[in-house]
Amino acid sequence: MLGIAALSPTYTLHSETFMMRAFIQNLPKAELHVHLEGTLEPELSFALATRNGVKLDHDTPEALIAAYDFHDLPSFLKIYYKAMEVLLTEQDFFDMSWAYLKKTREQNVLYCEMFFDPQAHTGRGVAFDTVIQGIHRAQVQAASELGVESQLVMCFLRELSAESAMQTLLASLSYKEWIVGVGLDSEEKNNPPIKFAEVFARARSEGYRLTMHCDVNQLNTLLHIRQCLDDIRVDRIDHGINSLEDPAICAEIARRGLGLTVCPVSNRFVVQNLTGEEIRKMMALGMKATINSDDPAYFRAYMNENLFALAEEAGFEQAEIAQLVRNSFDVAWLSDERRQHYLDLLDRRLG
Ligand code: HPA
Ligand code: ZN
Repeated sequence: MLGIAALSPTYTLHSETFMMRAFIQNLPKAELHVHLEGTLEPELSFALATRNGVKLDHDTPEALIAAYDFHDLPSFLKIYYKAMEVLLTEQDFFDMSWAYLKKTREQNVLYCEMFFDPQAHTGRGVAFDTVIQGIHRAQVQAASELGVESQLVMCFLRELSAESAMQTLLASLSYKEWIVGVGLDSEEKNNPPIKFAEVFARARSEGYRLTMHCDVNQLNTLLHIRQCLDDIRVDRIDHGINSLEDPAICAEIARRGLGLTVCPVSNRFVVQNLTGEEIRKMMALGMKATINSDDPAYFRAYMNENLFALAEEAGFEQAEIAQLVRNSFDVAWLSDERRQHYLDLLDRRLG
């Protein structure tokens, strides 16, 4: 376990901030909403571009970061899809996944459920097998060498057709043991959950858990959340901030114990604040809000930086942070035994 010495440059921090950062660093944590392709750091992009002979639009990682100009979902997705063109071989998917899993170990994130977007690769001629073999190899190595446990959630790109999602689902069945659930991401406008009702029904019948993005402030967001609850009957909702606009939806989410994977720093790019008040409201209403990084290489914030931001900019106390972390283990797609293992670790740390 990493101690206070791992926090740098701590000596410049006010002592209260220092104590809070140490508290956050040392908590055993889980991450439930991270896109593996969103963990592709600019430095690795350049290394892969060189290895694969791909030309990037920028000359240095710094210039690439300087061009990160997102203010809404479409402007983010444009940059996200362009950047992943450097991912071509099994080793590339391994390197990206391994880098993320090493980062989680450094941050004391001991368990993660990671999204991947197979259609973003098969659509470029990269085989499903290449993608998943590379990711899976990194997961196995992370479990044995780092003690980080992880599971994969396969996302469908919602701007593509339901037929394409179904084909992807069928292709995934040979790797069913490596995938815990399915999700829905990418362009939400005019792509409601109901478009994928049949695909998600089939996914459930194959034993997959179900989640879907209901990104912050999207067109028809309450309708999308309702469809998630009533038509798709999801096991979790990704983001879901706008559910607070409808008391009946909040009550239903609380009653079912559904997790909401909130991504504060990601939200800040879209709504210019961390949605700290919304997270507090969810907790007050008994909704299981969890904190996540979404696309950490792009938003320049992994799990701990999201929690530091809530503490330092939204005034979250230690007890609130601990509750959010507990919620993640509560709603994770773990066996009862593994869940209890992590909750015991958390309780021991909290004393
Ligand atoms: N929202 C929707 N699709 C995505 C995201 C996101 O935050 N990140 C990667 N694909
Ligand atoms: Zn997301």
